[in-house]
Amino acid sequence: MVGLGLALTAAAALTVRGDFQGSTHLVELETDALKYSKETPTGPVAELIRRIEAGKAKLEWDAKLGWLPSFQKALSVPAASQTLVFSKTSLQREHIHPGNPRAIFFNDAIYLGYIPGAPVVEISEVDPRLGGIFYVVEQKPTDTPVIKRIDNCLECHASSRTMGVPGHLFRSVQTDRQGIVDLATGIEPIDHRTPFADRWGGWYVTGTHGPVQHRGNRMGDDFVQAKSNPSLGGNQTRLDDYFDPTKYPSPGSDIAALMVLGHQVHLHNFIARVHYMAAQHLAAYGHVDYLTSPVEGLVKHLLLAEEVPLEHPVQGDPEFVRSFEAAGPRDRKGRSLRQLDLQKHLFKHPCSFLIHSEAFGRLPAPLKQKIYRRMAEVLSGADASEPFRRLSADDRAAVRKILTETLEDLPPDWKSLIEPKTVQATDASKTLSGPPK
Ligand code: HEC
Repeated sequence: MVGLGLALTAAAALTVRGDFQGSTHLVELETDALKYSKETPTGPVAELIRRIEAGKAKLEWDAKLGWLPSFQKALSVPAASQTLVFSKTSLQREHIHPGNPRAIFFNDAIYLGYIPGAPVVEISEVDPRLGGIFYVVEQKPTDTPVIKRIDNCLECHASSRTMGVPGHLFRSVQTDRQGIVDLATGIEPIDHRTPFADRWGGWYVTGTHGPVQHRGNRMGDDFVQAKSNPSLGGNQTRLDDYFDPTKYPSPGSDIAALMVLGHQVHLHNFIARVHYMAAQHLAAYGHVDYLTSPVEGLVKHLLLAEEVPLEHPVQGDPEFVRSFEAAGPRDRKGRSLRQLDLQKHLFKHPCSFLIHSEAFGRLPAPLKQKIYRRMAEVLSGADASEPFRRLSADDRAAVRKILTETLEDLPPDWKSLIEPKTVQATDASKTLSGPPK
């Protein structure tokens, strides 16, 4: 039994921030418009299961890593996306500790969880309609491995911490030397709005970041010692002192991968949330006009409006950057939303690459049109208001061009919507450039 019940009413919603991003109450998962437990998933894992059943794909057992490498290959999840979490915060907690962290690998639609010696590989996929769908595979050599869907995972994966939809988690915690969370110190979600100094407690972090500090690679009394020795745990390029990295497909827990992970986990949850809401509004009212506040929050996140800028460049594993940047469409000048900046910002162009994902692409059309129209107001410069100040005139121009040349379902009047407004072409081009204060 899933136990999330089906929806608390809106009355149970906590106070939400004006832009909706703090909204946390559970959405109704089993309505006539959309039924989480009954509809057939159409994500890449569901597709792989169908291919295996049809004899068109086969998983290969690996003596060291079990089914993991075969999954990574079949689902195109790069080994370089590896991040490592040592807090005992998830399902197979008894196997996780700082000497045996849990590895998470991801691409735009899949997350894989692997712990050396644990009974199952965990998978969460981003279904384009239903949000997170969860599966496990037993780590046992057999001719016919079964990828089993498990809805019980929603106990943790559908709550106020996932924006109230079946979704994904990424949080900063403080642990002791066994990886047990110190609840008194709080659990904070991590995304691109999280100050650097608050990121990655409970996680290993490899890569350099200058004198700025984060909470990764710290446990137990490290947190006390860090008060007099702020560089403690920072700028690690190897993790051999903590555990044996040869047990994993990659040696590190890449800083750039962690930054992308934070950005996309929240956005995947947000996209799923607006999908459920749009389906319900369309069924009830025949339109999505009331969803202005969710759209506002989503557009802010898509355009990285509230990103905390980097105080110092970060550098991680060039292999992650290469594999991440290689995918996705480009405009005629070769620009892509997957280009990483890592100097001042996460991405070179302030618009999420997930706008090209299946999950975004399959949002109900009226909702997507509403999102595009709101984006056009910002990108044209017609809305140069405070929340979007971080986007310079050049940023807006580049994103306009990339979207125009890479998306096929833009509103028919898109070209006129994004026509640069005079306010931006003159004085605003100066005031809009530069990082936010
Ligand atoms: C006790 C709570 C809990 C349960 C139950 C749980 N998870 Fe998670 N899961 C987490 C937390 C917390 C994270 C974030 C990373 C971390 O702290 O390890 C996470 C992260 C993940 C991730 C990485 C990306 C994502 O989706 O957040 C996968 C994959 C995953 N879990 C799969 C599963 C599967 C499959 C199940 C059910 C078989 C499951 N989990 C059940 C707590 C849980």
